[in-house]
Amino acid sequence: MPTFKDREVQAIQEEALREIRAAANAADLERLRVKFLGRKGILTLILRGLKDLDPDLRRRVGQEANRAKKALEDALDQALADLKAAARRAPAEELDVTLPGRRPPLGHLHPLTRITQEVCDIFLHLGFEAVEGPEVELDYYNFEALNIPADHPARDMQDTFYFNEKVLLRTQTSPMQIRVMEQRRPPMRIIGPGRVYRRDSDITHSPMFHQVEGLLVDRRVSFADLKGVLLAFAHQMFGPEVSLRFRPSYFPFTEPSAEVDISCVICRGLGCRVCKITGWLEILGAGMVHPAVFEAVGYDPEEYTGFAFGLGVERIAMLKYGIDDIRLFYDNDLRFLRQF
Ligand code: DAH
Repeated sequence: MPTFKDREVQAIQEEALREIRAAANAADLERLRVKFLGRKGILTLILRGLKDLDPDLRRRVGQEANRAKKALEDALDQALADLKAAARRAPAEELDVTLPGRRPPLGHLHPLTRITQEVCDIFLHLGFEAVEGPEVELDYYNFEALNIPADHPARDMQDTFYFNEKVLLRTQTSPMQIRVMEQRRPPMRIIGPGRVYRRDSDITHSPMFHQVEGLLVDRRVSFADLKGVLLAFAHQMFGPEVSLRFRPSYFPFTEPSAEVDISCVICRGLGCRVCKITGWLEILGAGMVHPAVFEAVGYDPEEYTGFAFGLGVERIAMLKYGIDDIRLFYDNDLRFLRQF
């Protein structure tokens, strides 16, 4: 058993400090604490042995040993704090660059965006040029110049969001026809995608939805040109096996007008729930530009003819993907969106 007689307190302290400096981890430090300051530690025994000493020596050695004890406690605390700080820094320094990375989740385009782009791409390849127009529109462009008279049902407050008598949210993409024709001279081939708004809401109608407008104006454009272009579009969009059907219809800005159906993509024309047993699905409205529309933009209807069409993006997406509720497109529910 070591006593102050064979080991100077000073020497003990120096040895302890040397070992503390060499300690590699918290367990080493704990071992040293026990060795020097524990119940049977070297310094503890010295302090305990003081009572057997001469008063003179007791005081001197006592002072010295208490000072050493304090120094060792401080050194142990400091060493432990240093170890912890080093451990906090360690992860960055020990970065394992060979670990495989974590892939960030990658999103994709919304199905409506995809359909819109697909439709526009097909027409861009046919030589059409994409244009945009304002969603907050003047009554003049949305109705007046499109030969929609003031008492036409489409202008009813039921259908249109008005800001005031002259300003509204466009109810169709057709006003882009007027805006482009005002700015240019024929020939022109334009395609105009965009949002439109109507006071209407149920499982197949949304107060905001998307349309794509088309317009071609030149000399000697005929209804046959319209049929050819729409057939090329339908084959690109839905596959070469679909057929087209033109039904006589009415739009104020076209004459003659037609609603255009494709053979049902679900049952291939045999009759099913989606096509309501008819074998046909309506995909767009179209027609030859009305002379009154040309007059509104200052074109001579004797010199120029043209065709126009407008299709609903949601409708095409619902047909293509077999979706029966339009609201699913706007809910931003990832369980729905991830399927496309
Ligand atoms: N604007 C029409 C609508 O929203 C669709 C339409 C029909 C556009 C015939 C046209 C067209 O360009 O020629 O119901």
